[in-house]
Amino acid sequence: MNGARLTPKGYSNEIENKLHLYKKKGYRIPGRNLLRTEEQIAGIRASAQINTALLDYLSENIREGMSTAEIDHMVYAFTTDHEAIPAPFLYEGYPKSVCVSINDVVCHGIPNTRTFLKSGDIVNVDVSTIYKGYFSDASRMYMIGEVSPEYRRLVEITKECRDIGVKMAQPWTRLGDVGAAIQEHAEKNGYSVVRDLCGHGCGVKFHEEPDVEHFGKRNTGMLIVPGMTFTIEPMINMGSYEVVFDEDDGWTVYTEDGQPSAQWESQILITEDGNEILTE
Ligand code: MF3
Ligand code: CO
Repeated sequence: MNGARLTPKGYSNEIENKLHLYKKKGYRIPGRNLLRTEEQIAGIRASAQINTALLDYLSENIREGMSTAEIDHMVYAFTTDHEAIPAPFLYEGYPKSVCVSINDVVCHGIPNTRTFLKSGDIVNVDVSTIYKGYFSDASRMYMIGEVSPEYRRLVEITKECRDIGVKMAQPWTRLGDVGAAIQEHAEKNGYSVVRDLCGHGCGVKFHEEPDVEHFGKRNTGMLIVPGMTFTIEPMINMGSYEVVFDEDDGWTVYTEDGQPSAQWESQILITEDGNEILTE
């Protein structure tokens, strides 16, 4: 039995034949290693369950006045209590267990004892879990105290962008269809889509192929095939889409114009007839 060639429901010949046809037509198709076996899917689902329970736990416990380091401690304790590992910890030198990104921080905010959640903040908490070797990834926005209508709307429209992206991610369509739909919704609402960071394959490794861009053109990009697991995690800016990378800490990404940014992330499994939301 060759695990890498097993497809989710055993339709390996059917999927294999279709892949051949699309390849002949010139489509970019995923490597067979990106099509998960039933065993891998079970492992990724178990990891995703812990990741979602962690976000639920944070939803109950995040508070105005708390430092971002306290969020990091909660993530570390909850994850290890569930016999899992926070995937960010020491990932490419990242020093903490979670990313906490407030207001004009687009992503990869590093928890610390000097930054406190204050009323009016919009906060992205991005958690990723390794359980029995399988990876899961998701993020949510939290609104602290009294949040202005402008900021609230950014958070809500960004969630809609993520949800539209998930709905568009159908088998035998293309990644460009996902990106284009997200971009249209963001821009129709007066916002912009960050270009320099994207979603990604996730499950057997933390970050694997394909890159999942949140902008683009329909009928372009890699074919979406049953068995793929990847994230959709649009970062939507109130102002321009330009970002700057912090050279001192090597991680934090800010909006260039100082205006706020929001992000929601889900990980999905592409199935024969749609998709399954693994994390949200
Ligand atoms: N969780 C982030 C993502 O959605 C990645 C964070 S990498 C880290 O892909 F090392 F900064 F944690
Ligand atoms: Co991700």
